[in-house]
Amino acid sequence: MKKFVYTLALLLPLFAATAPAQESVAQQTERPTGEMMGNTCAACHGTYGRLGTAAFVPLAGMEVEEFVRAMRAFRDGTRPSTLMHSVAVGFSDEEYRAMAEFFAAQGTEE
Ligand code: HEC
Repeated sequence: MKKFVYTLALLLPLFAATAPAQESVAQQTERPTGEMMGNTCAACHGTYGRLGTAAFVPLAGMEVEEFVRAMRAFRDGTRPSTLMHSVAVGFSDEEYRAMAEFFAAQGTEE
């Protein structure tokens, strides 16, 4: 295992050198995935939506329809929120669904 990690550490700079060019092309041509969008929620909801030491509500394992319903309600103000209205207005219904599927697929264990 140690050897593997060491090899990986040696190889990583090689990937780092070649990855950026590919990534920028991908960003221009592909739509953001649920995972990419979902990672912007990590500061408050934890990495992969798992609470861990994060301050707020965990999203990991939340049911898809429940997630989408919550986001719509935050957006149109039918569900009161301190912060989530500002977050929810930034995404479309289709994007809510992509994130919902990402979070629903995450286990709640670390
Ligand atoms: C700045 C902190 C912050 C960020 C960033 C944030 N949230 Fe929230 N979220 C909250 C808070 C606080 C609540 C509780 C409701 C409220 O007061 O706004 C909440 C509640 C929620 C809920 C309801 C959970 C439940 O159990 O019903 C969902 C769904 C949610 N957030 C999704 C998201 C998604 C998706 C993102 C990223 C696109 C995100 N949040 C980013 C702070 C945040």
